[in-house]
Amino acid sequence: MPYNLLQSKKGIIFGALNDKSIAWKIAVRAHEEGAIFTLTNLPVSIRFGDIKNLCKECNAELIPADATNPDDLENLLKRSMEILGGKLDFILHCIGMSPNVRKNREYDDIDYNYFFNTIDISAISFHKLLQKAKKLDAINEWGSVVALSYIAAQRTLHGYNDMADAKALLESITRSFGYIYGTEKKVRINTISQSPIKTTAGSGVKGIQGLLDFTERMSPLGNATADECADFCITLFSDLTRKITMQNIYHDGGFSSMGMSLKAMTQYTKCLEEEE
Ligand SMILES: NC(=O)c1ccc[n+]([C@@H]2O[C@H](COP(=O)([O-])OP(=O)(O)OC[C@H]3O[C@@H](n4cnc5c(N)ncnc54)[C@H](O)[C@@H]3O)[C@@H](O)[C@H]2O)c1
Repeated sequence: MPYNLLQSKKGIIFGALNDKSIAWKIAVRAHEEGAIFTLTNLPVSIRFGDIKNLCKECNAELIPADATNPDDLENLLKRSMEILGGKLDFILHCIGMSPNVRKNREYDDIDYNYFFNTIDISAISFHKLLQKAKKLDAINEWGSVVALSYIAAQRTLHGYNDMADAKALLESITRSFGYIYGTEKKVRINTISQSPIKTTAGSGVKGIQGLLDFTERMSPLGNATADECADFCITLFSDLTRKITMQNIYHDGGFSSMGMSLKAMTQYTKCLEEEE
């Protein structure tokens, strides 16, 4: 149900590939809440994905950009302000990619060029974006920047590989830049640490089906869906959360506070009994 929480707010949304993408769901909700925004993605993802349908649905212009390229980011920010008619109120960084995961390189045998790409795409791009935005003074006071993270930044999860290091850096950039941008321009920066979801990127995580089942059994409220993530993200873009900054906020049905649940224990015991 729309609450007009983003009425006439302007923004940029990174990372919508197809209708499974978390960014896609957030774009649809932001549109429902009255926001106007541009959409962006890599040229190759635009060719192979469905983002043009989302542009139609949200009446949004598409500006191709590689988030690791500072010139692309500058063009994206300038063009977005031209198209939307002023400075921005929100930006969503909802991108990530690990060539090591894609090429099945295990964490103790990663390729370091791939590793650098992982970190550049999934974390340093956030710094590049914030640095450009601040230099261009592209974000209004009390504007909100949100990136998507995962609990592998704090806890070791089998198979998450070098994306864990990228997420740890992403959350650190959120705090370090959040301090400076908050002090000087009253811009807030946060990450949402989201439950696993079977998106295109999520499907790359080793054993995603088992992980989804485990986190569902472990979380008192169950896994948070992409639609629920969109609802939460809208509140972070809205004026209702103006004093939240430099935070990594778990949106995971309670998973991050659990050690063991009855549902998970029951399943585990069943497997042990089957082995006997
Ligand atoms: N799916 C999950 O289980 C899950 C859980 C927690 C956090 N996240 C995070 O959510 C974010 C969105 O992922 P998703 O699950 O919606 O998957 P997705 O595959 O739909 O989205 C990933 C996006 O990153 C974009 N991208 C990759 N390299 C880029 C670059 N150089 N420049 C610009 N864009 C680039 C892709 O084109 C794609 O649109 C990621 O940061 C991911 O790590 C996902």
